[in-house]
Amino acid sequence: MERAIFTLDDKIIFITGAASGIGKATSLLCKDLGARVVAADLSTPDDIKAALSLSDRDLALQVDVSDEASVSAAMAQVKQTYGQLDGLVNSAGISGMGAAHQVPLASWEKTISVHMTGTFLLCQKALELFLEQKSGAIVNVASTYGLIGGTGNFSYNSAKGGIVQMTRCLAADYGPMNIRANCVAPGYIETPMTTMLDGDAAEPFRNRFVAMHSLKRAGKPEEVARAIVFLLSDAASYVTGAALPVDGGYSAAKEIIL
Ligand code: NAI
Repeated sequence: MERAIFTLDDKIIFITGAASGIGKATSLLCKDLGARVVAADLSTPDDIKAALSLSDRDLALQVDVSDEASVSAAMAQVKQTYGQLDGLVNSAGISGMGAAHQVPLASWEKTISVHMTGTFLLCQKALELFLEQKSGAIVNVASTYGLIGGTGNFSYNSAKGGIVQMTRCLAADYGPMNIRANCVAPGYIETPMTTMLDGDAAEPFRNRFVAMHSLKRAGKPEEVARAIVFLLSDAASYVTGAALPVDGGYSAAKEIIL
């Protein structure tokens, strides 16, 4: 384990999309930093437990973030098991390809329901506990494409822009109750979601994409997880409403061809 500059000792952290990629790396780091983790994903609890080597102090829950009954049942279980909740990370996500004229309505609705409705539902149900406690920290996983426009991913990019704005509105509404809300905006991170960029055929595209990041490499899920746990922790006690790029400089600058 890396030497920690802060801890999450005895905090209860609910993480969606916990079985894979950024959510998985965040769950593992939260555990390393002393938190008890509520790991939620579409996968079965046994698969989630196995993926994260969860102990009896953690919870593995099969949750569809876009389904209100599923989210309500999960939060009820958190309340019954721990009686408190300290942090929420919304990392569940799917890709959503195509420019506007290419996106079937059903595909648009699916992307919006997982990303935006899912984030809304999780925040709404977590807020019931946060408001009782007068404390809580939300970290939403947006995207660099929530901060800037981009080609060929209309529904995904729109949803991520919505998540950035939801985060700011949550910060505004609940700051007075000592509840913080922030989001991270990752660039190209190597996870199962981006395996479409693997393989010989995709290599030229991947190389071009990597070259657009100032650090000239793809990110790792663990590098996003570190930013997320900072925002969850008391080290970020005066940070709310922020959209933190974790994108190797992608959104900060464009290369000037001279
Ligand atoms: P991933 O595919 O590795 O993990 C996503 C997880 O979300 C999976 O375990 C999946 O089962 C779960 N999930 C999907 N739909 C769900 C639902 N309805 N209910 C519950 N769980 C559900 O992907 P990755 O890369 O870890 O993505 C995590 C988040 O980061 C997503 O919101 C994604 O949009 C965002 N992101 C990823 C980037 C990347 O380059 N990988 C860049 C920017 C943002």
